[in-house]
Amino acid sequence: MVEKLEEPKKVFVKTYGCQMNVYDSNRMEDALEQDGYERTSDMADADLVLLNTCHIREKAAEKVYSEVGRIRKIKEKRADTNRPMTIGVTGCVAQAEGSEIMKRAKAVDLVAGPQTYHRIADIVHRAEQGQRPVETEFEIEEKFAKLPAATAKQVQARGVASFLTVQEGCDKFCTFCVVPYTRGAEVSRTAKQIVDEAQGMIDAGVREVTLLGQNVNAWHGEGFDGREWGLGELLHELAKIKGMERLRYTTSHPVDMDESLINAHRELDCLMPYLHLPVQAGSDKILKAMNRHHTVEDYMHIIDRMREVSPDMAISGDFIVGFPGETEEDFEETLNVVRKVKYASAFSFKYSTRPGTPGADMKNQVPEDVKSERLQRLQALLNQQQEEFNQTCVGRKMDILLEKKGRRAGQLIGRSPWLQSVIVDESLGNPGDIVHVEITEAAPNSLNAVLAQKEQ
Ligand code: 5AD
Ligand code: SF4
Repeated sequence: MVEKLEEPKKVFVKTYGCQMNVYDSNRMEDALEQDGYERTSDMADADLVLLNTCHIREKAAEKVYSEVGRIRKIKEKRADTNRPMTIGVTGCVAQAEGSEIMKRAKAVDLVAGPQTYHRIADIVHRAEQGQRPVETEFEIEEKFAKLPAATAKQVQARGVASFLTVQEGCDKFCTFCVVPYTRGAEVSRTAKQIVDEAQGMIDAGVREVTLLGQNVNAWHGEGFDGREWGLGELLHELAKIKGMERLRYTTSHPVDMDESLINAHRELDCLMPYLHLPVQAGSDKILKAMNRHHTVEDYMHIIDRMREVSPDMAISGDFIVGFPGETEEDFEETLNVVRKVKYASAFSFKYSTRPGTPGADMKNQVPEDVKSERLQRLQALLNQQQEEFNQTCVGRKMDILLEKKGRRAGQLIGRSPWLQSVIVDESLGNPGDIVHVEITEAAPNSLNAVLAQKEQ
């Protein structure tokens, strides 16, 4: 009798939140693939479903519970046909809620916090045996060093622009933020690990690498020359990799913007003229209450320095409105900062109380309707600035990196140096090509372009 060959098990990972979670999901998928799993984009077809969650704003945990409720129905259906499904919750909600998830959601088979992913295959195996593991410890060992490297095929499947986490966690303790509690203390990967991983990406065909970290510019480590390096020096080393066409980094904190990083923007052609530098609020009183360790003047000084070294630098930011104690005057100061900086893009949020953070216990909380009204005014201004920025690009010639097919047939989407999506005709080239184009039209969220002649 011929034994029936077992089909490989399938894994479906759903990612919430920031780019660091996207990177983590990729690394988990890679590790599981190398452990014999196959990826699927159809949840109903998956033997293993992982929800890689985010806890940054309110209702995160509730959303996860309701999503698990929906998946439970699929799990039950599959059980009827003897095809078991394992459900896992990973990421920051897993870290924050821990075994509470197991109590409240009986369908969940494993809970794994962000610092345990190097053991994800083992955790999954234990869950499959019915152990319901909960892994939320912070380990001193480095998870990324222990996760298997992605294969060239795995890198290629994700396209020509890749993320690379270089730093994780945070020691800053802004009073609104859960990150120091869910991701743990600030840890930098070694320069060698990072350069090796970047080299692997470039060898596999990647053209643009975005370095990631909750505080990416706090990255530091021993350099190849024996000196202590900061992000500026690391970028210099990465720029030496042949075929590294573009480098980016995000997210930066104002207090860690040193001169070496600022100057790297003048010194390195491949470092894109784009800086995501959250200010959060425009009043010194609120910045102090947020424990940001800098003033509005400090922030404006960095923006000025950046534009000195790279005059066409695009600035992006994050804002929180309605932090406890924020008055109308404080909020007006935020609008003033926006008017002065002129942002190319930005993210803005209503303050959301996070249990366990100092902000949650502050007395002078701002009413919800006031927060909503301020957010609307701020977003109107930021949207207007983004549109204006895009309009200034019309008629301009620039290099774009072609990334992928567009939504319509015959189109390709590329990226401008300033992170805008640029739509072009597919005859211009293939993903991975850098083409010189002229912008013909600007919409709020994208640009259109045609091939341009290189200037002599
Ligand atoms: N409420 C609202 N926004 C928040 N952010 C972080 N914590 C909170 C919170 N409690 C925002 C900040 C940060 C971005 C990633 O999310 O602006 O920069
Ligand atoms: Fe959160 Fe502040 Fe750390 Fe950013 S710097 S992750 S906002 S605590």
